[in-house]
Amino acid sequence: DEVGPEKLKLLEELRLKEIGNCVRCKLHKRRRTIVFGEGNPAARLMLIGEAPGADEDEQGRPFVGRAGQLLMQMIKAIGFQRSDVYIANVLKCRPPENRNPESDEIAECSPFLYKQISIIQPKIIIALGTFAAQLILNSKSSISSLRNRVYDMPYGRVVATYHPSYLLRSPQKKPEAWEDLKLVKRIL
Ligand code: URA
Repeated sequence: DEVGPEKLKLLEELRLKEIGNCVRCKLHKRRRTIVFGEGNPAARLMLIGEAPGADEDEQGRPFVGRAGQLLMQMIKAIGFQRSDVYIANVLKCRPPENRNPESDEIAECSPFLYKQISIIQPKIIIALGTFAAQLILNSKSSISSLRNRVYDMPYGRVVATYHPSYLLRSPQKKPEAWEDLKLVKRIL
C-alpha cells in the first residue's frame, strides 16, 4: 500500500514528538516503557485494547502476553495475520497491578489513540472490552450490551467485543466473541 510509508512517518512523529517521554499522568512514575501500539500503518482492521500489562510494559509492545495469544487466535479466525492489522490500547502505560484505567488517565491519553485512528483510517475497529468500547462508542453501557452490533462512527465502523483477558477467565463467553468476529468478517 503506497500510503503506508506516509502513515508510518506520521505515527513515528506522534510517538516521538508528541508523546515523547510522557509525564502527563501519574502512570509514568511506575511504567518501564510506553506501549504506543504497532502493526501495519495501512491496516484495514485496527484492534483497541485497554492498557499494557506486565509483559507489554516489559517488552514495549501491545498484546504480547497470554491475552495476546488469544487475540492472535481471534485475528486469525477472521483471516488476518498479526502483521496485517494495527493494535493499540486506550492507555499507553501500565496501570499498577493491572488495575482499571482511571478517568483522568483516559482523558490525558485518549487523544493519542484518536490521532492513531485518524492516521491509520481503518475500515473497521474492534474495541476490546469495556474501556475501549465505552471510549470509542462514547457510551457508558456495559460491554455485553454494546457488543454484537456494527456502529457507524465518524472515523469508521466499530464492533465491540469481550476483552481477551476476560475470555481467558470466562471461556464460556467465547462463542459470543466469535459471533462478533463474524460480523467483522462480513464487513471486510
Ligand atoms: N491487555 C490489553 O488491553 N492490552 C495489551 O496490550 C495487553 C493486554
